Amino acid sequence: MGITGASGAVVARRMFQMLEADERVGRIHLVISGSGLKVLREELDLDVSKSSGVASELLGQPARKTIYLLDSDIGASIASGSYPVDGMVVIPCSTGCLAQIAHGVSSTLIERAADVCLKEGRKLVLAVRDAPFSRIHLKNMLAAHEAGADIFPVIPSFYHHPKTIDDLVTQFCCRVLAHLGLEQSIQFHWEGEAR
Ligand SMILES: Cc1cc2nc3c(=O)[nH]c(=O)nc-3n(C[C@H](O)[C@H](O)[C@H](O)COP(=O)(O)O)c2cc1C
Repeated sequence: MGITGASGAVVARRMFQMLEADERVGRIHLVISGSGLKVLREELDLDVSKSSGVASELLGQPARKTIYLLDSDIGASIASGSYPVDGMVVIPCSTGCLAQIAHGVSSTLIERAADVCLKEGRKLVLAVRDAPFSRIHLKNMLAAHEAGADIFPVIPSFYHHPKTIDDLVTQFCCRVLAHLGLEQSIQFHWEGEAR
């Protein structure tokens, strides 16, 4: 799981909590870009100054199965295709990170791990966040999609009658997780119009 410096720290936190709680998930590698840490501080008032405590701080309790890796650690396990990984989600994904991934520029661990997913034919979900999208953003989304990524912009749904921001965020994360093959029992499913 990568977290980059786009707005939406609350979505990143919920996704991380759901992955940590999911018994089907054996291990999580968490990487947060420098800008991602800045946005976590800004939007969630988190103290992410010490890398040793970032995962627990984000989770709100000790992380059980997470390996926290620095975005500068380009020699980390997930930088190699030989290391087994089922899939990757970048959430939120900045338009800058999208651009790097779409063009195969792997200068950080998040970018490299995403590039590895594409070259190995593994699931890669990019929860891009910005508004409005420029022509460059749209072209980069198409390029990343053509290379094998799933573009899953941070756009919530409303048909499940959300009452709180958490309702919105949780349903969005459920949809992303279902895309990664981790369907959640709490996900709302549209059953057709009530008659
Ligand atoms: C509070 C805050 C919110 C931001 N929101 C967005 C955003 O929604 N989308 C985006 O593409 N960039 C956003 N940015 C800008 C990115 O953080 C910036 O382009 C950064 O270089 C991205 O780097 P990264 O991809 O390594 O995380 C935001 C920056 C800050 C400080």
